[in-house]
Amino acid sequence: MSNWVRAHTNIALIKYWGKADEDLILPMNNSLSLTLDAFYTETSVTFDDALRSDELYLDDRMQDLAALKKVKTVLDLVREKAGITSKAKVMSYNHVPTAAGLASSASGLAALAGAASLAAGLELSSEELSKLARRGSGSASRSIYGGFAEWQKGTSHETSFAVPVDDADWDIGMLFIVVSDNKKDVSSREGMSRTVQTSPFYQGWLDSLDDDLSAMKLAIKEQDIHEVGVIAERNALKMHATTLGADPPFTYWSPDSMKAMEAVRALRDKGYSVHFTMDAGPNVKLICRQTQLEEIRTHLLNDFSESQLISARPGPGLHVVSRPGSQ
Ligand code: DP6
Repeated sequence: MSNWVRAHTNIALIKYWGKADEDLILPMNNSLSLTLDAFYTETSVTFDDALRSDELYLDDRMQDLAALKKVKTVLDLVREKAGITSKAKVMSYNHVPTAAGLASSASGLAALAGAASLAAGLELSSEELSKLARRGSGSASRSIYGGFAEWQKGTSHETSFAVPVDDADWDIGMLFIVVSDNKKDVSSREGMSRTVQTSPFYQGWLDSLDDDLSAMKLAIKEQDIHEVGVIAERNALKMHATTLGADPPFTYWSPDSMKAMEAVRALRDKGYSVHFTMDAGPNVKLICRQTQLEEIRTHLLNDFSESQLISARPGPGLHVVSRPGSQ
C-alpha cells in the first residue's frame, strides 16, 4: 500500500488572524476557507529505528532545523498517540504552478498529519486529522476537507477543529495574481501575534467576525457568488487594516498588490462579479465564477503576464495517492 498522502491548499474567505493559545494553536476566531485544486503537497513518512534524528526533505532538498520545527510538533503528537519512539524521514513535494512563493503551510502540514498517522498505523477520523494538522499550522486544519470548511475555534485541543461546510460543487473559482515583493517577510505567525498584542484595531476585527461568518455561510448556502465575494473582500481588508495599527506597524501589501486590486475594481465596472482576498503576503486572490475564469484571465493579461495568473477551482480533501505526481 502507498504511504503517500496528498493535501490541497486552502484560501480563507473569513480569515484566521490571531491565537488565543500559541502552543496549542487555538485561534481567536472561527475561519472559513475554500480548498483549491491548483496547489497541493504530497508527503510520505517513514519511521525508522536507524535514524538518529527526524529528517525533512522538501522537493528533494534536506531542510534545516527551523523548517523542521512545525513538522516535529506533528510527528511528536503522532509518536505519542501510537507509542512509537523512532525518528522519522519525511519526504514532501510541493506542487505549485510557478516558483512564486505560493507554497503553503496549509497543504504541507495537512499532508504531514495524514502521512504521519498512516505510517504510524493510526486510523484517525477527519476531525482527529484536523486537530493534528492544526498543531502544525492553524490553516492546515481546514485542508483536511475539500470544498468549503469552517475551523471552529473551540477552547481546548480537543474542541478546536475544522468541519466541512459545502462541497463547492457550483460555479465558483479563484484566480491568483502573483505579484512581486521586495520587502522582508513578516510570517503569518509573527504578524498575527504582533497584531493581537499591539494593534488597537484588533478588537474591532474580532467584534465584526460573527456577522461576516454568518453572512458568508448564508451566501454559500445560496450559492451567491457576488455575496461570497463581497463578504470575503471586506473581511480581508479588515484583517489587513489591523496590521497598520500594530507596533511596529507592517503591511503585506506591495505596490503591485494595489495594482491588482485596482484591476479587480475595473473588472467589476465591466460587470463581472469578481472580488479579492489577500493573506500574509502580497499576492492577490480573486473570487469569481468558475465559468468566467478564462474570460477574466484574458482581461488581466493587459496588466499582468501569463505566469502571474493562475486559475484554480475547488479541490478535494486529504487523500492517499499511489505515488507522488500521479493522477
Ligand atoms: C492570513 O496557518 O500560516 O493565511 O497557525 O501560525 O501556522 P500558524 O499560521 P497560518 O496562518 C494563516 C493566516 C492567513 C489567514 C488564514 O489562512 O485563515
